[in-house]
Amino acid sequence: MRAVTQSAPGGVETLSVSDLPDPVPGPGEVLVDVAATAVNRADLLQRQGFYPPPPGASEVMGLECSGTIAAVGEGVEVWSVGDEVCALLAGGGYASKVVVPVGQVMPVPQGIDLVTAAALPEVACTVWSNVFMVAGLRPDEVFLVHGGGGGIGTFAIQLAAATGARVFTTAGTEGKRQRCVELGAERAIDYREEDFVEVVRAATDGRGADVVLDNMGAKYLARNVDVLADEGRLVVIGMQGGSKAELNLGALLAKRGAVIATALRSRPLDGKARICASVVEHVWPLVADGSIVPVVSATLPLAEVAEAHRLVESSESVGKVLLTP
Ligand SMILES: NC(=O)c1ccc[n+]([C@@H]2O[C@H](COP(=O)([O-])OP(=O)(O)OC[C@H]3O[C@@H](n4cnc5c(N)ncnc54)[C@H](OP(=O)(O)O)[C@@H]3O)[C@@H](O)[C@H]2O)c1
Repeated sequence: MRAVTQSAPGGVETLSVSDLPDPVPGPGEVLVDVAATAVNRADLLQRQGFYPPPPGASEVMGLECSGTIAAVGEGVEVWSVGDEVCALLAGGGYASKVVVPVGQVMPVPQGIDLVTAAALPEVACTVWSNVFMVAGLRPDEVFLVHGGGGGIGTFAIQLAAATGARVFTTAGTEGKRQRCVELGAERAIDYREEDFVEVVRAATDGRGADVVLDNMGAKYLARNVDVLADEGRLVVIGMQGGSKAELNLGALLAKRGAVIATALRSRPLDGKARICASVVEHVWPLVADGSIVPVVSATLPLAEVAEAHRLVESSESVGKVLLTP
């Protein structure tokens, strides 16, 4: 197979495409002929040597893919050769073939083409599991997602809005803020010029946000606790603003609030399988009926992986950047 390999941890110049032996599906696994994969922010950290693959995962980058089943391992009955699928991966997506545990294989949502389907698994599983399965966002609640123009943000806005919640978001450029409003945000906040705590409080008669999905970590911790409504839930999934900060437990306790931090990649197989099954049941119908559209800003050939990483790193892209082998 063709796959992206790396000479040493570092910048985009360390990435190239090489031939590697085809992976072989073991019991409970399938082999997928990859139609497309997507660049995730975690891949940038992996490239720099800061986010090694979990034990047993492929050394090749790539946390999601779409494609066609090429072979099935022992005991796999739900999928057959030729089925079109998309999948959540612990690694290995930047390649023409990848092996996937069967619990992480999902059908392509109705009406979505095979290449575009690669934009969905990571954002759908992350947003659904954190905002709904963990934080339990309800239709009458207020939701704040930071980084609304990113892959996670563009999906979170649409999913929360589709379920009836009021959605607020932060974004760094006017173009991204406009897109966020088109996708269903009631208000997109300029995080450089405005204070998101003040804006959300003012728009909600002082109530604040019931659920916050955060990509910034340390930098936003104090203000995220500030913006929480009574019984609010802050879910931290990214540390773009650092990992260590002081938490005012008094402020959290007074609100009966919760701070939760999660990672999808390192979850056990059965946990990932539960999330994928729940996404297929609850989220795919909203994609199929057009309530949620995949947001893709660029699709590049695998050989242009360096440019794809540069695009995501620069935050110029809106939504996802895809790679096709
Ligand atoms: N824990 C997990 O399981 C998990 C799973 C998937 C993703 N993640 C994390 O979730 C985060 C988002 O992922 P992604 O794939 O959506 O990445 P992405 O597409 O690169 O989006 C990140 C966004 O953050 C915005 N941003 C930068 N500085 C900001 C600030 N100070 N305030 C608000 N927004 C800011 C960027 O754009 P602008 O500055 O132009 O607005 C960009 O749109 C990443 O940190 C990623 O590692 C975690």
